[in-house]
Amino acid sequence: MVAAEPTPETIAIVKSTVPILRENLTEVITRFYENLFSTYPELKKQFNMDRHRGGTVKEENGIPKQVAALGGAVISYAKNIDRVEALLPVVERISHKHVSRGVSAAQYDKIGECLLRAMKDILEEAITEDIHNAWAEAYGFLASVFINMETKLTEELSEKAGYSGFVPMSVVGMETDEDGSKRLSLKSEEFGTPQHGPGQYVAVVIEKEGLEPTMTSMATVREDEENTLWIYVPDSQEESTRYLLDVVELGSVIKVSVPCGKVK
Ligand code: HEM
Repeated sequence: MVAAEPTPETIAIVKSTVPILRENLTEVITRFYENLFSTYPELKKQFNMDRHRGGTVKEENGIPKQVAALGGAVISYAKNIDRVEALLPVVERISHKHVSRGVSAAQYDKIGECLLRAMKDILEEAITEDIHNAWAEAYGFLASVFINMETKLTEELSEKAGYSGFVPMSVVGMETDEDGSKRLSLKSEEFGTPQHGPGQYVAVVIEKEGLEPTMTSMATVREDEENTLWIYVPDSQEESTRYLLDVVELGSVIKVSVPCGKVK
């Protein structure tokens, strides 16, 4: 069930915070991730932690990509809070990513708590009680839109794949490209091969001794005659990707999600 739409007062207050949020966006979102990973470290395993550790973090205009993506979503929501239907295509794209990472409805409160706390930590007295309450209501509404979309998507994608969550798959084929990237062909003993198409990806669970459990997304590349699931592993310095390139071999077993992302 989608929560009641925010009141006109809440809409006005949230919109009025766009300039101050935009000005301090990197600080607020960076603090959000600090709050999240220190308060709820168990959530780390669903994120690509290589992108939150510095070093290999991909930057766009000097801003880590992860910070830019969430920051962009927050600003875009604040600007369009009175016409959420305009955001639905973006919500759907993000929801595919969430489903792939096993995000649950119960986790939304944790994200909301850490985001609101980050706004207060960074913007201090500019976040009055009225602003705090307006954002809490606005976040609750957005969360319910996501949860609704993700409940439907989980059902749809699991039915198509023939399983839900993460299943162990064996590496049954491997091809190496000249540029150091690889393609791995995966098959589940229990469920065979999930249906998948161009433009989709799976989340791969990385469990390696000495490395914090993490996940990474890999594009599915083609359907061959045997209809196995191929994933493309680009040459990269990220530790999770290096694990797939350097350690995983024929016969290795890795856990993967259902194929997600809109088929092109
Ligand atoms: C209304 C709340 C939320 C918003 C606006 C939001 C927004 C986003 C955005 C914009 C992305 C990037 C999408 C992409 O790369 O294609 C993303 C990715 C992700 N989100 Fe959310 N999200 C929300 C709630 C949650 C919750 C509750 C969780 C639970 C842990 C979560 C976990 C993730 C994960 C694991 C990723 C993948 C990014 C990574 O590996 O670092 N999100 N989200």
